[in-house]
Amino acid sequence: MCSYSLFTSTFSPFFIILISFFNPKKNHFFSSFLLSTMVAISKPPIELFFSKPSSKPTNNNNNNNPLSFPTIPIIDLSKSDSKHLLVKACQEFGFFKVINHGVPMQSIKKLESQATKFFSSPLSLKQKAGPPNPFGYGNRRLGSNGDFGWVEYLLLNAKLESDHKSPPFSVFEENPEDFRGVVNDYVTSVKKMACEILEMLADEMGLEARNVFSKLLMDEESDSVFRVNYYPPCPEVQEHESKGKKLIGFGEHTDPQIISVLRSNNTSGLEISLRDGTWVPVPSDSSSFFVNVGDSLQVMTNGRFKSVKHRVVANSSKSRLSMIYFGGPPLSEKIAPLDSLMVGEEASLYKEFTWFEYRKSAFNSRLSDNRLSLFEKIRTT
Ligand SMILES: *[C@@H]1O[C@H](CO)[C@@H](O)[C@H](O)[C@H]1NC(C)=O
Ligand SMILES: *[C@@H]1O[C@H](CO)[C@@H](O)[C@H](O)[C@H]1NC(C)=O
Ligand SMILES: *[C@@H]1O[C@H](CO)[C@@H](O)[C@H](O)[C@H]1NC(C)=O
Repeated sequence: MCSYSLFTSTFSPFFIILISFFNPKKNHFFSSFLLSTMVAISKPPIELFFSKPSSKPTNNNNNNNPLSFPTIPIIDLSKSDSKHLLVKACQEFGFFKVINHGVPMQSIKKLESQATKFFSSPLSLKQKAGPPNPFGYGNRRLGSNGDFGWVEYLLLNAKLESDHKSPPFSVFEENPEDFRGVVNDYVTSVKKMACEILEMLADEMGLEARNVFSKLLMDEESDSVFRVNYYPPCPEVQEHESKGKKLIGFGEHTDPQIISVLRSNNTSGLEISLRDGTWVPVPSDSSSFFVNVGDSLQVMTNGRFKSVKHRVVANSSKSRLSMIYFGGPPLSEKIAPLDSLMVGEEASLYKEFTWFEYRKSAFNSRLSDNRLSLFEKIRTT
């Protein structure tokens, strides 16, 4: 999984930069430097994938010492009195776990097995499903602004009518329709659950229309995406791991959309950041879903809900598979605090923008940038 061939293809742009910097004809020193650099670079520059030392440690006491540690809220969707807990979770964490969610296990398992099959295919086949621009297979490169992660992924259109005859679906050689069908079933159920959650939130907050959030996901023009992430194991980093360094699968970020719904198989790795900046590992649970508040929902609630910063740490010995539905609004939608939510003289914390503008801005930023800060009003107090 950590093969050199992968790296040489991934990092070829680095070669070009080096070669243009050091002209070996002019200087022997540089030519030997270049040679040794090339030898060095044919080994994975694995450091690129490690977390930078942070001032805030990860809280690893999750299982040992539950008292010192806030528990991630668990919401039972089958109970009507969960609404209150939902709102509380969105305010305090921007994150919660959902049980009794009504998504059939069968549709989860089918997708998991198709995805596993795809990611275990030869690289040459997977690459036929790329680049992820806007939809398709991606490998280690996340976006176009220099973010890397120890991850392979498929970015898919969450619109159900889209074509199975073109990549990435066409790459599922035997039966691309089957894979499209499996994705459709899964996305349909998960989107339904996401809408239910958004309606419970609107209800509990006493907003005039309970579909005020969910209608954006239901809209035919909803700009939603579906992503499958595969974090391969990497035995080479075992030594680093034992020194407490973390191999970053997906670097820290918040999700720009309204709401994200994640399911992973039984491998740990997901971590969320608490308000004080502490990183907290989220124990995996393959039969539940994890839900993130996105930046757009933070804005629509004028900051009452917080989009949660999160990341995924890869592992030297275990692979992880996750699938995430990102529920977004139509491109032309104005993202602004809801009138019916504002109290008294309350003013919007944000400048006016559309989802199109925000998405464009997010695409042009680095993963870890505080993307909303560009849209915050400067407070004059
Ligand atoms: C998670 O999924 C990956 C990819 O399919 C697989 O290799 C791994 O064994 C799975 N892990 C568990 C604990 O099920
Ligand atoms: C998940 O993994 C844990 C330990 O790694 C194990 O105890 C548990 O039974 C597993 N659950 C499932 C559903 O495979
Ligand atoms: C990798 O997975 C193993 C087995 O589940 C676990 O004990 C270890 O803590 C994990 N490593 C990291 C860095 O999360």
